[in-house]
Amino acid sequence: MSLAIWILGLFCLVGIVQSYKLTGIRSGNKTDLPTISIIGGTPASAGEFPYMALLHLDGALCGGTLIGDSVVVTAAHCLGSSNSSLPYYTVYLNTLSIDGDGDGSIVRGVSSFVKHENHSGGYNDIALLFLNETVTTIAYAPLPVDDSPVEPTEIPPTTKKPTTKKPTTKKPTTKRPTTKRPTTKRPTTKRPTTKRPTTRKPTTTKPRTTRRPSMRAFPDYANAAAVVTGWGIISNEGGASEKLLKADVTILDNTVCTSQYGNLFDGFAMLCAGGDGTDTCSGDSGGPLLVNGVLVGITSWGGALCADPDHAGGYTRVSSYVDWIANTQANNPNLVS
Ligand SMILES: *[C@@H]1O[C@H](CO)[C@@H](O)[C@H](O)[C@H]1NC(C)=O
Ligand SMILES: *[C@@H]1O[C@H](CO)[C@@H](O)[C@H](O)[C@H]1NC(C)=O
Ligand SMILES: *[C@@H]1O[C@H](CO)[C@@H](O)[C@H](O)[C@H]1NC(C)=O
Ligand SMILES: *[C@@H]1O[C@H](CO)[C@@H](O)[C@H](O)[C@H]1NC(C)=O
Repeated sequence: MSLAIWILGLFCLVGIVQSYKLTGIRSGNKTDLPTISIIGGTPASAGEFPYMALLHLDGALCGGTLIGDSVVVTAAHCLGSSNSSLPYYTVYLNTLSIDGDGDGSIVRGVSSFVKHENHSGGYNDIALLFLNETVTTIAYAPLPVDDSPVEPTEIPPTTKKPTTKKPTTKKPTTKRPTTKRPTTKRPTTKRPTTKRPTTRKPTTTKPRTTRRPSMRAFPDYANAAAVVTGWGIISNEGGASEKLLKADVTILDNTVCTSQYGNLFDGFAMLCAGGDGTDTCSGDSGGPLLVNGVLVGITSWGGALCADPDHAGGYTRVSSYVDWIANTQANNPNLVS
């Protein structure tokens, strides 16, 4: 059950080859929707991925994930550049059908969206959609949490003599390290060239993670079993899936991703994952990569072919964007609640 990670984003990342697909998908009407969907997948069951969002975006098909009562996270490359498309954006939840119907299906409009300001192709490929009405009957997908050990706050030495009072058993306050990672973003001008990643020599670069120390202790998810879901195309030649599909993939070590994509892969901000004949593909973009039900990735990009054993699918590494998500939500207070 591999999803071809090819998705729209992929195209962007890889360059010209992909962008034509992106264009195709985005400009298509419903009947033009790519017929590929998660490759090697099996049908999801009702209620299995309640937070899975089906996005009909002015003719384009994408996935998304409900992370708050009126917030869906998706891939920035799924979205247009202005608010003019908003009337043509529709979000469906709790549905298995690509038409968004079915018992209990929920439909929402989009009142605004925010793309990462430094999005470019597969880089910073993340966006939030703010729904026009809240959704209160569906469980949200949890975001990754920092799993660094909790450090007790230092208790300042008191000059006071110990009184007879019972020592206030101050619980060590579980302060999370607020040390933000240095925002040493690489210039977004480093757009991937038109070269396909396959042409890159595997050993050209070290994973960027070695250059950008993260102060946060999120797991790296290397070798973790993950699930991808979507309505995207089900083969490299096929059309979109009528039904929501899911597939198992394994998150690869950053060094493996780098060996496949060279410096197009940024291990700090991306994940790559592959499977045995499974992958995400066109139309799956924006959908979730889940590890134990936690949203760790957003389907973003891939090689020229989906489910290519030598080119894993690329995902936005959600743990690197938890601050962005929180700030963006805070700066865009939900108008409907
Ligand atoms: C959608 O695409 C199909 C096939 O290309 C075309 O026949 C149809 O007229 C299009 N519909 C709209 C509303 O553009
Ligand atoms: C969309 O609308 C919001 C609110 O009116 C505005 O702040 C924002 O700049 C608009 N975005 C674009 C891309 O025009
Ligand atoms: C929200 O959008 C949906 C889908 O477009 C629409 O059916 C519904 O009436 C909208 N709700 C409000 C409060 O505008
Ligand atoms: C976008 O890039 C600029 C320039 O590198 C940087 O100052 C800014 O913090 C970046 N924005 C985000 C949200 O990371």
